Amino acid sequence: MTHVVTGQTLSFTAGGSPVHEGRGAIAVGDDGTVLWSGPQPLLPHAFRQAERHDYGDMIVMPGFVDAHIHFPQFRILAAPGKDLLDWLTRFTFPEESRYADPAHAKEAARLFLARLFRHGTTSALAFCSVHKACADALFAAAESAGMALVTGKTMMDRNAIPAVQDDPETGARESEELYRAWHGRGRLRYAVTPRFAVTSSDAQLRVSGELLSALPGALMQTHLSESPGEIAFVASLFPNAKDYTDVYDSFGLLSGRSLFAHGIHLSERECARLSETGSTVVHCPTSNTFLGSGLMSMPHLRKAERPVHVGIATDVGGGTSYSMLATLGEAYKVQMLVGYKPSAFELFAMATRGNAERLRIGHETGALEPGKFADLVVLDPRATPVLESRQEVSETLEDVLFSLMILGDDRAVRATYVKGRKLHDRLTA
Ligand code: GUN
Ligand code: ZN
Repeated sequence: MTHVVTGQTLSFTAGGSPVHEGRGAIAVGDDGTVLWSGPQPLLPHAFRQAERHDYGDMIVMPGFVDAHIHFPQFRILAAPGKDLLDWLTRFTFPEESRYADPAHAKEAARLFLARLFRHGTTSALAFCSVHKACADALFAAAESAGMALVTGKTMMDRNAIPAVQDDPETGARESEELYRAWHGRGRLRYAVTPRFAVTSSDAQLRVSGELLSALPGALMQTHLSESPGEIAFVASLFPNAKDYTDVYDSFGLLSGRSLFAHGIHLSERECARLSETGSTVVHCPTSNTFLGSGLMSMPHLRKAERPVHVGIATDVGGGTSYSMLATLGEAYKVQMLVGYKPSAFELFAMATRGNAERLRIGHETGALEPGKFADLVVLDPRATPVLESRQEVSETLEDVLFSLMILGDDRAVRATYVKGRKLHDRLTA
């Protein structure tokens, strides 16, 4: 049934400018799309008798898009590794080995998606484990929820325990089977997923590049230039490469469909190649501070003469929060430490429309516009006592958003809608 969601509506234009209605309304059709969005007094007559979901002066905006998250790490947040490689070896690979079991993967997928919705995230680009059953489980759960989800089977054929390794042939075959089964089905998309250059041989990186060019519309996701130990290891594994980015470049993995998590320690040359190829670097601030990986600089990546697209993500479970609000808050702090002060508008635009465009789902989500799906988050700026008293002194919408990203988390998410359906309500959850 058509329904109307009312509140302070907020969305961002392609240029990142806020579109805000103090008393806004969104009419949502039976098919889950936005039929109309604008000021309440102008709501067309056709929608005036429709069921109302009224959120008063709470903020109704596009649901968050998480541009990098690991499904099979959903339980292992706060695992105290010494650094990235130690964390992967001691905690992450053993945990991911459990996803060989389809029953475990199925139950975990249900819990994982419920957790995303609880935090206001309505779409994601996710890593699965190396096991095909893990990707099947996540795709199936996302399909039932009606969400736009991009994921893929991780490929890794060395430098890990056998339980989480494949080989180049199996990895390629299973990736292609998953693409054929799920890509383009409803709102689902496939991502070719070599974990990173440490755990994929030359042969596996080669087939990854072949898959990226052979599978129309597929994305490619991996990790790049995260920690000093990792960078040194990659240099020793690929002595002929100019640098870490060149490893992926030489296998055809840089493209407008490629997303690289972290990108903390990139040189001018690496940024120039990422820029030329239209590749995206995904900033994962809570992970970078937690694992001590370093401070990623957005202004360095975005230098006008060779701008690199930048997305933003939780990187759970290296990241310490599912909340994109907390992630924006941590990004603000990391950028302050490198001498840049991003605005709340800039960061909220990145987490919604910006990430949707980086994931190539911007035509269907990320903004409150007719024809896009009604993927919505309702934020309560007075959700906690601290936020409530903060709003007594908040002066502008920018200031309210700023307080939400510095002080907010899942408690500030009053409700989440995916494809027009309310899948999380804080009052009943
Ligand atoms: N590099 C390779 N795998 C991973 C992972 O699972 N998490 C993070 N943060 N970095 C990685
Ligand atoms: Zn990651």
